[in-house]
Amino acid sequence: MTTRHFLRDDDLSPAEQAAVLDLAATLKADRHGHRPFAGPQSVAVIFEKQSLRTRTSFEAGIAELGGHAIIIDAQTTHLGRGETIEDAARVLSRYVSAIVIRSHADSRLAALAAASSVPVVNALTDGFHPCQLLADLLTIRERLGGTEGRTLAYLGDTANNMAHSYLLAGATAGMHVRLAGPAGFDPDPAVVAKAAQIAATTGGSVEIGHDAINAVAGADVVATDCWTSMGQEHDGLDRITPFLPYQINSELLAGAKPHVVVLHCLPAHRGEEITSEVLDASAAWDEAENRLHAQKALLTWLVS
Ligand code: CP
Ligand code: NVA
Repeated sequence: MTTRHFLRDDDLSPAEQAAVLDLAATLKADRHGHRPFAGPQSVAVIFEKQSLRTRTSFEAGIAELGGHAIIIDAQTTHLGRGETIEDAARVLSRYVSAIVIRSHADSRLAALAAASSVPVVNALTDGFHPCQLLADLLTIRERLGGTEGRTLAYLGDTANNMAHSYLLAGATAGMHVRLAGPAGFDPDPAVVAKAAQIAATTGGSVEIGHDAINAVAGADVVATDCWTSMGQEHDGLDRITPFLPYQINSELLAGAKPHVVVLHCLPAHRGEEITSEVLDASAAWDEAENRLHAQKALLTWLVS
């Protein structure tokens, strides 16, 4: 049997994504009753970038499953001084049931997965944040009863990991995904094409534009993310001025459906991509909690 990895949102088919989300809802409803892991299993959770939610939700979630998380700060291992990611994968595969990693380039994650004999999970790369999208979709299901046929508008940095994950995961979930952000911060055309291809099979659609008001008009879900992602702090680009028209505030949200679900993966920059007033009343807090339930389901699905 080939080892399954979760490196991008489209590594799960629509049916598989639905199965993981169903399991997440079951685990959430019976949080401490389920122990789907067959016995104590260890999971390596490696960080090459900062984290609050991802680190804590994986550590707590693996404990709730009856497993053991080994949190690894890459800088304090030989990865921080040149041991190859492939060699690390070969060794870690001998110790643990799965490897979760937050890293930089997607090529590094792919190299890790290629050398690993256990499932590898993307806990955020420069290109994608698929665990976050499982939590987002679970939150949308809870608030709206489902995802199919719903319209999701994502505003802001449409070139970043969250934009790419909204495209792929949203299309997989049968959603109409609209992206709007400043010109020059556009999504990877290959990801857009793949999302459109998936949408054609699920009844969803994909739209990329630069007009925030058009994107939000009639939307069921409105999402945003920071304008400066980890690693972009010194890229020399103006990451404020061109983004200002894409701020999520109550004036912009007036054009969305009355039941609009507002999402933010957090951490937020209050007063930049979202106002405090909107963030405080948003679904971001449920969304953050759902990281735990969604990742418990994902690991159970991958490892069992
Ligand atoms: N949303 C998210 O991934 O948060 P952290 O960076 O704190 O893990
Ligand atoms: N786009 C952000 C997401 C943080 C959870 C980043 O990569 O920093």
